[in-house]
Amino acid sequence: MHRLAVLTSGGDASGMNAAIRAVVRTAIYMDMEVYGVRQGFAGLIEDNLVQMNAGSVADIIQRGGTILQTSRSDHFKTLEGRQKATRNLINRGIENLVVIGGEGSLRGAYHISRLGINVIGIPATIDNDIVFTRSIGFDTAVNTVLDAINRIRDTASSHGRNFIIEVMGRDCGEVALAAGVAGGAESILIPEIETDINAVIDKINQGSNRGKLHSIIIVAEGVYPPLELRDIIEKRTGHDTRITILGHTQRGGSPTAQDRILASCMGKAAVELIASPKHNQMVASDGKHIFSIPLQEVINGAKTLDLEMFEIARMLSI
Ligand code: F6P
Repeated sequence: MHRLAVLTSGGDASGMNAAIRAVVRTAIYMDMEVYGVRQGFAGLIEDNLVQMNAGSVADIIQRGGTILQTSRSDHFKTLEGRQKATRNLINRGIENLVVIGGEGSLRGAYHISRLGINVIGIPATIDNDIVFTRSIGFDTAVNTVLDAINRIRDTASSHGRNFIIEVMGRDCGEVALAAGVAGGAESILIPEIETDINAVIDKINQGSNRGKLHSIIIVAEGVYPPLELRDIIEKRTGHDTRITILGHTQRGGSPTAQDRILASCMGKAAVELIASPKHNQMVASDGKHIFSIPLQEVINGAKTLDLEMFEIARMLSI
């Protein structure tokens, strides 16, 4: 009989619970024994595991966050920490581990696979920065940002103000770009494209010359300090400009249908991979099909942004 453990790691993403549910229920369906690891890799080092049954994951498909909790573990970054985590699994006779998380977590997953555990990764991060795949949590985060843009537009146009909206994404502009296109932002500043302040100012001035009451500028975190950007915009356009930093509101909330479906399909596929001869894979999706990629290729790859999407945003925001 196969035994497997499942954990969530790194920044939580909406849909992680739906993925845990799918892993646990598929494992039980396939007569496997399944354990949940609390608090990610930190919990694995502490041997903080609990056996799961079908009821352990009841009523969670609609919940954001992760019932298993998560962590960013410095101890796991050391070989000693990873060896301890591996020993705990081996002592329990668990030879398979499903890791649900983002880029750093999949890197951790790869390292532990090198110590003799069969590790299957499921991409889950709002940042959508994992190569070859869409990530669980991205769609929910984009819709949260979109909802904020819609609300901010109401007040922005009422007062005739510009708004800078800072969104998350770590080193990746995916959330900013998707929400910016869907929300009709006038400018989108992302790490993949060099910031052109003159273009931002020109866009605002062109807009106000033809009677536009406000502009929305989406800024991915770390690209430009929002206070500095506000001062420049106010000075060069003469328009009142406010800042909203959406922060961790983007990480919580009930997952969208798209994220729940993606998580359900990926969770099922992860357990099927355990029953197959394919080891140490990441489950991936191109939006249509579910497939798998060796973890090693994932950690050696780098995601590239869809520049055509940036061009669409630029063209449509005249
Ligand atoms: O990776 C997800 C993410 O939300 C990033 O977008 C952000 O930079 C980071 O995590 C914030 O991390 P923390 O919750 O540890 O502050």
